[in-house]
Amino acid sequence: MLRLDNVTLVGIEGVDLNQMLLAAAVCQHYCRFGAVKIFTPFDYDDERIVRIPPLSYDDYNRFVIRSLHEHVETNHLLLIQHDGFVLNPDGWSDEFLEYDYIGAPWQFDDGLNVGNGGFSLRSKRLLETASECVEGPPWSPEDRLLCRRYRKVLEEDYGIRFAPVSLASRFSIDGVFGEPHVWDGEFGFHNFRTTDLSKWTPPPDLSVGLWPAVKRTWELERRAQLTAVRSRRTWRRIAREHAQLQTELDTVRRLTGAMPSQFTGSKEDPEDPEFLESNLDMTLRNTLAIIQERILNRTTYSGVKAVKNPFDFWVYQEILFEVKPDVIIEIGNQYGGSTLALAHILDHLGKGVVVGVDVDHSKLADVVRAHPRISLITGDACRCLDAIKERVREHDKVLIIEDSSHTYRNTLNILRKFSSLVTLGSYFIVEDSVLNHGLDEGPSPGPYEAIEEFLRDNDCFEIDRTRESFLITWNPKGYLKRIR
Ligand SMILES: C[S@@+](CC[C@H](N)C(=O)[O-])C[C@H]1O[C@@H](n2cnc3c(N)ncnc32)[C@H](O)[C@@H]1O
Repeated sequence: MLRLDNVTLVGIEGVDLNQMLLAAAVCQHYCRFGAVKIFTPFDYDDERIVRIPPLSYDDYNRFVIRSLHEHVETNHLLLIQHDGFVLNPDGWSDEFLEYDYIGAPWQFDDGLNVGNGGFSLRSKRLLETASECVEGPPWSPEDRLLCRRYRKVLEEDYGIRFAPVSLASRFSIDGVFGEPHVWDGEFGFHNFRTTDLSKWTPPPDLSVGLWPAVKRTWELERRAQLTAVRSRRTWRRIAREHAQLQTELDTVRRLTGAMPSQFTGSKEDPEDPEFLESNLDMTLRNTLAIIQERILNRTTYSGVKAVKNPFDFWVYQEILFEVKPDVIIEIGNQYGGSTLALAHILDHLGKGVVVGVDVDHSKLADVVRAHPRISLITGDACRCLDAIKERVREHDKVLIIEDSSHTYRNTLNILRKFSSLVTLGSYFIVEDSVLNHGLDEGPSPGPYEAIEEFLRDNDCFEIDRTRESFLITWNPKGYLKRIR
């Protein structure tokens, strides 16, 4: 995922909040922003929402020029409208951040061509400067005001930098009516009606989920002709139409399986509870995120917190029954729920010990410390290798579970240093390779890449993908079997 820590994603929407949330969802699918703020008069329960009074078209433009700078803490913001979003994170260039303003080029022949504000990157400095020197009314359209009428003043008196056309045309497209601009890898776009996105392949979960709804909601919006009635006086009528549209959109969502609940769910919505039967059309990506939240916050074993996916732990039980190890080395124990569960399985098998290794055992539950099969070594795993080896006797069958920091370097070091301890037919299980390979979080590169790197020069192990029995696993490619 593209990290834009110093960029705030901003949307200002007085007409169709749902469409705006779709556009923001697509941007957030590709990029991690420093902050996300959606300014709207609609009452909607979502941490991204900042409530503002109802706004007409001119209010929108005034708000951008006069007030927006007060709400942005990052150096830049990406301003989107409901009909524009990021299409290609690989189209991003850090060069974009060297300018105070960049938006899709217009077709003027006087050199004042950059650019369209509907999908535009702006510096906080530009916003602050404009709030002082740009005079209205009229305030609309604000992008023309900034980039054409005031451009020279902003450049010459304040040192504001507008991106050159060549760079702006890599940043975004926005065509003219009748001659749609064909998208060809640019970072983003604005305006469905003046662009041709047929070359864009939405990511799989968008193509089966969000994308059909994006197109469908756009058609609905046009049909409702909402853009024709943007004014403060008619806002109540718009709100009524919007409510009707929402009902239609809910139907679309259900039919297309679109809109994961995190983008649509309102606390009052009886269709958005946290239970299975109401979420059957949720994408796998969103399902994994929900499982992760519950693993982190709700999962215990025998009353002790365990940070373990139960699908994987069932597989552990199968492996332990087959291998019947004498020693399990668990690197990373934390509260000890998983350590205790491993010891209980060994109780059942009638043999074996668990060596628990962690830099910090202060959180470990007493019941874990007290279990006779569990012994502890406190310290950085790679520095404790000798102490760990002392717990292994000559003919012991050894299985290792690496579940510590999940950084690429540490995981690779642990794999390289400990792999010779794992006995033939047994396993080296590397946890949390799902990070950035199913879950959009954690170090990148991380465990997944460390496994691949480790196997490049070690042929004693092979990945046993038959152990990914339930499809959902926190350890994709993480069950390494010693084969020689
Ligand atoms: C994800 S938690 C372990 C969760 C536990 N295995 C479970 O399933 O409940 C990670 C643990 O690894 C420990 N850790 C991080 N880096 C480590 C290192 N280099 N050596 C040993 N332990 C480490 C942390 O202190 C933390 O307690």
